[in-house]
Amino acid sequence: MKYKAIGRSGLISSNLSLGTMIFGEDSDRSTPEADAIKMIDQYLAQGGNHIDTADGYAKGRSEEIVGKAVKGKRENLIIATKVRFPTSDDVNDVGLSRYHIIQGVEQSLNRLNTDRIDLLYVHCWDPITPLDETVRALDDLVRSGKVRYLGLSNFKAWQSMKAQALCDQLGAGRFIAGQYQYSLVKRDIEHEFFDLFESEGLGLMPWGPLGGGFLTGKYERSGPTSGRIATTHEGTEESWARRNTEKNWKILDAVKEVAAKHNASPVQIALAWVLSKQVVSSLVIGARTMTQLEDNLKANEVTLDKVDLATLNELSTSDELYPYRFISSYGKRKF
Ligand SMILES: NC(=O)c1ccc[n+]([C@@H]2O[C@H](COP(=O)([O-])OP(=O)(O)OC[C@H]3O[C@@H](n4cnc5c(N)ncnc54)[C@H](OP(=O)(O)O)[C@@H]3O)[C@@H](O)[C@H]2O)c1
Repeated sequence: MKYKAIGRSGLISSNLSLGTMIFGEDSDRSTPEADAIKMIDQYLAQGGNHIDTADGYAKGRSEEIVGKAVKGKRENLIIATKVRFPTSDDVNDVGLSRYHIIQGVEQSLNRLNTDRIDLLYVHCWDPITPLDETVRALDDLVRSGKVRYLGLSNFKAWQSMKAQALCDQLGAGRFIAGQYQYSLVKRDIEHEFFDLFESEGLGLMPWGPLGGGFLTGKYERSGPTSGRIATTHEGTEESWARRNTEKNWKILDAVKEVAAKHNASPVQIALAWVLSKQVVSSLVIGARTMTQLEDNLKANEVTLDKVDLATLNELSTSDELYPYRFISSYGKRKF
């Protein structure tokens, strides 16, 4: 395992964080609790110190499983969670209001069975709550000791900049991390966010580094038969239509060639490419099984050379601009 400071902060994270979005989920793409606990143990045994969850993952089950798995070994770990998406049908159990943030954090602390959240992300923009209310509520939580560091996720560039500037204006602690989708098949954040993160001291924590599994090489052009992309319905983030493009197949062919050269798996190459970006503080792994986890954790054993990087960079370069339609719809709120 390798270690890096998160953004412009003194918090040192393993460069691979463990994503837990599907732990305990009620679906056929999930990781059952007993397996999830073994995977967390294995990740920690290999030197990982950073577990990523959210209040909404598996309706709170993910946080509960993390809480159980780290019992007795919590002290030196970074536990990251998130607040913003609905946690019930109540009109106030959603968003970035002072009301919901404080209540959400109390509930997360209970589920995680801990007295502090090391890194709390605002999961997505809230179009209703004034940002100064959000920043002040977050700062109060940091001052109370219940939260140690702050991150933001999926905000547009202007929203991130406004949030960071408000922290300065209000004398509040700044955000240290930005969690965004980033992979060889999703590079849109490079245009605005790499500069922004560097200038504002935010570490990039990429989610979806394998494009939901596309970059594993387990899908054929003829169509998926199993795996997340096979079971995700049309029009959603990991639908087949969204991944099945000529450009993506060419990227995957190149990933496989580089993998053969390094005697590594396509997964390790796709992750090593993300890790090669200086702006990345810690990549959020999304393994569903122990075998997948072990494959993903070997990404640190691969060092891509200049030729590999040039080939992969050139084939995957993208003019797309953030935000794309999925993030725009995440931001909506109705009551
Ligand atoms: N901030 C946000 O808005 C946000 C959003 C999404 C995720 N996240 C975080 O980021 C983490 C990772 O995101 P992600 O799950 O989208 O990542 P991903 O790595 O792009 O996709 C993970 C999926 O790919 C497949 N896979 C992973 N490793 C594999 C391997 N070695 N061999 C074959 N298949 C493999 C598995 O699905 P199948 O086996 O079912 O095919 C797995 O569920 C999440 O757990 C969560 O913590 C954050």
